[in-house]
Amino acid sequence: MPDAARSRSACARRTEGVTLDHAAGLYDWLAPLMTLGLEGRLHRRLIAGLRLDRPMAVLDIGCGTGSLTLDLHGAMPAGDGSRVLGIDAAEAMIAVAGRKVRGRAGLEFRAALAEELPCAPESFDRAASAFFFHHVHYRLKRRILEELWRVLRPGGRAAIIDVDTPYNAFGALCANAGRWLFRQDEIRENIDGLLRRALDESPFRGAWRIASRHSGYISLFELQKGPAPYGEDPRERPASRDATGGSG
Ligand SMILES: C[S@@+](CC[C@H](N)C(=O)[O-])C[C@H]1O[C@@H](n2cnc3c(N)ncnc32)[C@H](O)[C@@H]1O
Repeated sequence: MPDAARSRSACARRTEGVTLDHAAGLYDWLAPLMTLGLEGRLHRRLIAGLRLDRPMAVLDIGCGTGSLTLDLHGAMPAGDGSRVLGIDAAEAMIAVAGRKVRGRAGLEFRAALAEELPCAPESFDRAASAFFFHHVHYRLKRRILEELWRVLRPGGRAAIIDVDTPYNAFGALCANAGRWLFRQDEIRENIDGLLRRALDESPFRGAWRIASRHSGYISLFELQKGPAPYGEDPRERPASRDATGGSG
């Protein structure tokens, strides 16, 4: 077995996605550098759009060591029905995330594949993912968006932060540096707009928008499954593709 394959956990070996068992020990040190110190701000923007204003079931896909998962859990009022699940294919990442649970009720991490979510249909009110979709190739992106649609309740919302088409020279430099450094063709796909195309070819077609753009190459995508849920304003549903220009 090649070295790269040997360093992958059993769960990670079942996916064609780029998994990070080998980086688990260093990830929490490296992630803030790779997001240019913007991680907290990006999480806050994502969470604001999800409107976690009551206890809900929330899924974090490709959660890594769980930083977004923890922020999602912390943002929601505690109560019956409040549940946050983070999944990642890399068992070593999940082991690091699991150590952060420390008795927090309703927070769980599980090793699982995004393309085969171990979740019942319509079992989540909200879903999120940060910097995950540039780890999976186009066919998997589409498959995962179908899974996301399956597990979201009608009216449920999702938010994705990821590398997207660069809109200035700084963004093009950062995005392409990542692509060359990590030799990851999946990053090139995002730069070329294939995440947008996957959304357009998914059940979310016509029900997603770009809520904000950051650092010249990162976009916050907001998605909605069908009609607005009880208590939410239908006028705020994503109607068109691009809601904003760049923002920092
Ligand atoms: C760049 S990390 C992002 C982690 C975290 N969301 C964050 O923002 O720090 C991408 C993660 O996707 C995971 N991954 C790759 N393919 C996957 C798949 N098919 N299913 C679940 N996780 C996967 C990797 O193991 C890795 O932890």
